[in-house]
Amino acid sequence: MAKKVSKAVFPAAGLGTRFLPATKASPKEMLPIVDKPMFQYAVEEAAACNIKEFIVITGKSKRAIEDHFDYAWELEENLKSTGKNKILDEIRELSQHQFAYIRQGAPLGLGHAILCSKPFVKDEPFAVLLSDDIIDPDDRLLKDMIRIYNKYNATVLALQQVPKDEIHRYGVIAGKEVGKNIFKISDMIEKPKASSAPSDMAIIGRYILTPDIYNILEKTRPGKGGEIQLTDAMKTLLKRKPVYGYLFKGRRYDGGDKVGYLKATVELALKNPSLKAEFKDYLYSRVASIKEKEN
Ligand code: G1P
Repeated sequence: MAKKVSKAVFPAAGLGTRFLPATKASPKEMLPIVDKPMFQYAVEEAAACNIKEFIVITGKSKRAIEDHFDYAWELEENLKSTGKNKILDEIRELSQHQFAYIRQGAPLGLGHAILCSKPFVKDEPFAVLLSDDIIDPDDRLLKDMIRIYNKYNATVLALQQVPKDEIHRYGVIAGKEVGKNIFKISDMIEKPKASSAPSDMAIIGRYILTPDIYNILEKTRPGKGGEIQLTDAMKTLLKRKPVYGYLFKGRRYDGGDKVGYLKATVELALKNPSLKAEFKDYLYSRVASIKEKEN
């Protein structure tokens, strides 16, 4: 029987250069989307799957992530004394989870970041969430992946079909459909050219990994961009064991890209009960004025 997935690893050591200067002194993971940092959406997604331990791989200038999920005595006292109970509950919720932080030290790639979690994960299966892939909170993804992991007792990756001109930004797989939206993977390649990609199915930032990936990562040599690539390690793994992909048909926003970030902001603002009416009116009028100017 498959062991329970109760730990999640969040690589968060990246420099966030695409968002400079905003990310010069603050982590890109803390960029807000409406009223929460991008990172919090990923944490809430994992918590909704009954994951109890959160392991964050951090680097320089990432202290704000630790502070965000810490107990904030002064703030809580202030909210209590001013009767702001709703937000007080939300703030308290943030410090309820069990977090461990590991410094990656050198930016040697996603595979190396995952390897840093080995002492905390040990011999259990675990989820990996790349927080700049924002999954719409109403669309199940991680939950379905855990269900697939429990069925096959094997590694599961999230996949999404992407347009040709975006293929070079992703790990891309070849595979055969073995169940509804479930693919048995036969090959994968990190950031190929569109002309040599084995399909249009890209790996997106959610993984359920088994602990045998660690031994492989230890022996994985730097690949694309001179970094230790998780994709290369998983490619080695699939020669020994089955690896599955789950084709996600829901909504994902690329929070690592400025336009993707703006889309996530608009979409999540439109879902926010206290903002949506006013924001929708604004969007209607804004679109109307853009159209008017264009005609
Ligand atoms: C990483 C992975 C890549 C995956 C992508 C998903 O790349 O290396 O295989 O497709 O995340 O977001 P990165 O975006 O960190 O360059």
